[in-house]
Amino acid sequence: MEAARDSFNKVAEEYDFVNTLLNDYSFFMSNLSLQKGRALDIGSGSGILVDKLSSHFDEVVGIDISDEMLSIAKTKRQRANTSYLHMDAENLIFEQKFDFIVSRTTFHHLNHLPNVLEQMKSLLNDDGKIVILDNVSEVETPATYVYVIGAMLEFIPHIRKFGLKNASRIFRHNTSKPWLEHLASDKYISEKQYYDLYGKLLPNCRFQKMGWAMGVIWEKDQKSSNL
Ligand SMILES: C[S@@+](CC[C@H](N)C(=O)[O-])C[C@H]1O[C@@H](n2cnc3c(N)ncnc32)[C@H](O)[C@@H]1O
Repeated sequence: MEAARDSFNKVAEEYDFVNTLLNDYSFFMSNLSLQKGRALDIGSGSGILVDKLSSHFDEVVGIDISDEMLSIAKTKRQRANTSYLHMDAENLIFEQKFDFIVSRTTFHHLNHLPNVLEQMKSLLNDDGKIVILDNVSEVETPATYVYVIGAMLEFIPHIRKFGLKNASRIFRHNTSKPWLEHLASDKYISEKQYYDLYGKLLPNCRFQKMGWAMGVIWEKDQKSSNL
């Protein structure tokens, strides 16, 4: 946990800049829960997804362990119906339940995934939904050169899309020492591991493979709440 926190503290500002430009949150927006009461984002980073969800839910809570990420979220993306808390995903402490619990590119940082999923299920209202997106890779930790080559290949398309100044800033972040060191410590799971692990812990969940990412969708009904 400390390693993930420290490395996100180091890259928070540039991570937010790059994520704001590049990342697509449509998987979550097209899988919203029916009930639009309370939503929770686990590993909310700089609050981009919390901000998007805030137009659809009465209340949205983002939790993260990086103070720098939380500080950006509070400064740039604080609304009347959003709140950001310093909380470890491994130990979720809430008195009220949620209708929608999401997490984006955070679960590969967690040590006790089955335990976290159990906590999420118990914090979910009946008819609520869990939607998770995280990295999928047949190689547990891709080599650093793979990311550097990827950044080089994306540079020209990024210039066309975002202009030279922004593309250069994206390239600098994607090839920076702290970011590459962070990626070198990431451990991803394979497509089969997703099906085995999540299929067991979230019975009848649906999977959506999206290139480097795997999406998992699980709906809680009266029957599954007794599992
Ligand atoms: C790759 S970032 C994703 C941020 C955000 N979900 C997004 O997509 O823009 C992963 C986030 O998970 C947070 N994180 C890592 N381990 C965590 C934990 N145990 N509890 C809560 N947050 C955690 C990091 O601080 C970081 O902000």
